Amino acid sequence: MSAPAVHDWSLRSWREKEALQQPTYPDDASLQEALDHVSALPPLVTSWEVEHLKTELARAANGERFLLQGGECAESFGDCRADTITSRLKILMQMSLVLTYGLNTRVVRVGRFAGQYAKPRSSDTETRNGTTLPSYRGDIINDPAFAPEARHPDPQRMVEAYASSSLTLNLVRALTEGGFADLRHPEYWDLDFVQHSPLADEYHAIADAIGDTIDFLETVTDEEIDSVEGVTFYTSHEALLLPYEEALSRTVPHKAGVYNLGTHLPWVGKRTNQPNKAHVEYARGIENPVGLKVGPAMTPSRLKTLIRTLDPEDEPGKLMLISRLGADAIGDKLPPLLQAVQATGQSVLWIADPMHGNTEKTDAGIKTRRFENVLGELEQAMDIHAAEGSHLGGVHFELTGEDVTECIGGARGLSEADLGRAYESHVDPRLNYEQSMEMAFSIVRKHRRLHD
Ligand code: PEP
Ligand code: CO
Repeated sequence: MSAPAVHDWSLRSWREKEALQQPTYPDDASLQEALDHVSALPPLVTSWEVEHLKTELARAANGERFLLQGGECAESFGDCRADTITSRLKILMQMSLVLTYGLNTRVVRVGRFAGQYAKPRSSDTETRNGTTLPSYRGDIINDPAFAPEARHPDPQRMVEAYASSSLTLNLVRALTEGGFADLRHPEYWDLDFVQHSPLADEYHAIADAIGDTIDFLETVTDEEIDSVEGVTFYTSHEALLLPYEEALSRTVPHKAGVYNLGTHLPWVGKRTNQPNKAHVEYARGIENPVGLKVGPAMTPSRLKTLIRTLDPEDEPGKLMLISRLGADAIGDKLPPLLQAVQATGQSVLWIADPMHGNTEKTDAGIKTRRFENVLGELEQAMDIHAAEGSHLGGVHFELTGEDVTECIGGARGLSEADLGRAYESHVDPRLNYEQSMEMAFSIVRKHRRLHD
């Protein structure tokens, strides 16, 4: 094993910088015990999977692939169930088929799961009816119940997060090896909602074309489409809780450097993306591809510094920039950022997260997002990249395969009043099954308008 090639970096060098958004654990001994436990457990992913994803991301940056990243805002330990995992995979798989045939490009599928347990919060505390407690920071840290004991950060939760990630991944790997037989053909999809859309004919035409293409491919190759295409899912999560990420970062035989083997694609969130602080310090040294959220406060010069810091060698597939600017701000904010990246001459992958810049609160205090704003930001991202001669290589959604009512709008016209019916997210509102499918159809529709 040779030493990491990254200048002046070690797996512990983040500890010399300020680490934002970290919990305060009750004592060092119990923290160390949990970390020692996690450090000794086997990796969840392998270095060759990580390297393969990097190759795929390099292709996405060149337009030879399209990246679909999606899943939970915050996974919970209670979500580690067969039905939840299966429906989440199904929706991503179906969306990816729509995108594959609609965009005529292979799709790289990356889940926000098997490790998405840590959440950054705007405030360290939460007050309800005059009582103030520490904020919920994700199941890897504390419990969402509003009670003092529940909100205490417990280091043993890291061991449980590892175990839940591993159990989730186990089912994901089993299902992707052959359990998707009924998902390949649109006639098995639940497309009833399409009737409620003014674009029903167009959506049906897309679904029919996908079905015809799949039938055709299966006929000419005499193989089922899964084996023609191969179904691979990669995992991703926000690399927020740095002691945990460190415990899962390892050297491997015959390869230089340190890999985060707790996930394929860790990302740095909007609240922790400062170039001189701990999260960027951790991310700059690992071998994995790294995502970086780009919010409205990002300036072109800071973005250039971050690119130099995170990807100094311009390594293909290394850096993925995830814009999350908001439907109102993207028109002003994105063009100068794209120009700044172009001025570096480096090849990075841009993807659009149209969720996080479009969160709002209803009069009743419920966090929601409007389908029209999510789609609006995405369509603007596609237009702006095209106008700037840049390439949008993927999308990032918070979604679930279930019939929740967390986001407003979509073909069925969910309203504020519907939010009470099935609002299950502990943190951010997700697109439900129908809204997610509609989003995939809408991307295809927009793509065709831009390119046909
Ligand atoms: C998230 O992806 O759930 C999140 C918190 O995003 P951001 O860092 O972009 O706000
Ligand atoms: Co979120």
